[in-house]
Amino acid sequence: MGDLVPAPWGGYLVTGYDACDQVLRGRNWLVPDFAWQARQTRTERWEAVATQEMSGTLSRLNAPEHTRQRRSLGNLFDRNTLREMGPRIEADVTELLDRLSERIQADGEADLATVVSEQLPINTVGRWLSIAPEDYPHILTMTHNQVHAQELLPTKSQLAISEQATMDLREYFTRLVRERRDQDGDDLIARWIRTWDALESDREATDRVVYQLTMFVTIASLETTATLLSSLVWLLLGSPGRWEWLREHPEHIDDAIEEALRYDPPIRVNSRVASEDTVLAGTFLPKDTMVHVMYGAANRDPRRNPDPHTFDMLRRGNHLTFGGGAHYCLGAGLARMEARALLGQLLERFPTLRAAGLPEYAPRMVFHRVTSLRVAA
Ligand code: HEM
Repeated sequence: MGDLVPAPWGGYLVTGYDACDQVLRGRNWLVPDFAWQARQTRTERWEAVATQEMSGTLSRLNAPEHTRQRRSLGNLFDRNTLREMGPRIEADVTELLDRLSERIQADGEADLATVVSEQLPINTVGRWLSIAPEDYPHILTMTHNQVHAQELLPTKSQLAISEQATMDLREYFTRLVRERRDQDGDDLIARWIRTWDALESDREATDRVVYQLTMFVTIASLETTATLLSSLVWLLLGSPGRWEWLREHPEHIDDAIEEALRYDPPIRVNSRVASEDTVLAGTFLPKDTMVHVMYGAANRDPRRNPDPHTFDMLRRGNHLTFGGGAHYCLGAGLARMEARALLGQLLERFPTLRAAGLPEYAPRMVFHRVTSLRVAA
């Protein structure tokens, strides 16, 4: 239908790889922040509590505040941090796969999505932020419910669920930041508090920023990674011979992960607005026009990745699954590491793993979520 397709509700869907890349990296494209929202005539879409709360987080800030917050975080998962996290992630995978194995032995099959894929990201990020493991189920539920407000056209009832989850997240993470301030320890959140105390004029402002950062990094890391893990396993089990081939060629595990990221991106859509009158893919777009970057469509642009609907582990293709430019995903390295750890051990321990049915998905458009993937061995 072209690189740029008018969306029925206004704005445009951007489908071509180069056009999406241009929007993500271009200086004349911004995220739809509070200032842009205030200039809209139809504001209901932006007034929902959950949307407003998200608008205060990193992903909805533009420079200079975005630059300030990203700088304060630095490179969250640099080589050294990832090297330190590696052994614990491997140990976690071993424990989760023990559980998977027990369930398969007891019941003949088990749900990889809930037993393994959803647990590994919360274990990893929870430990990194020194969050008590008994809180993990609550955090997962809040995250699943919050995400509705970030869908393209949420219904009223979805927005209500999102609103409750947003308030619960605010309460949980605000309390967490307050506790860490009182304890004044050496955990990551306490260090962020000290960094921001030096940058902000008062403690209230610091605590608000640290709450927003902690909450956002947590929710940004969970469903996305869980979906990658389940989709990756499904792509390998869903077609004969792939699992066996990768077992024989473990040197291509990273290639398989990149191809799964390209083929089936966990986040499908992201929005940007024009900061000035501009031309995109030959179409004139006035200032403030909203466009939706379609990551999945971009990844399957045949001009960039020939024969794009074929899952090809040797493709070495390109993808925009982690975004691009100033907002490029801060957790890409960690997500890849979790996928590598899981796939490595799964291939070794479960040579005859097979799908025991089709995967089930949450009925969503923007945030893809695998709710169930039954496997047997
Ligand atoms: C497969 C897993 C993941 C996928 C597909 C994914 C994808 C994305 C995408 C598409 C963006 C928006 C980029 C843009 O606007 O150009 C993003 C931003 C972000 N991601 Fe991820 N992500 C994943 C995992 C993670 C993890 C594990 C973390 C943290 C532990 C994380 C933290 C963030 C943060 C903080 C941002 C906001 C960056 C900003 O706006 O400056 N993500 N991610």
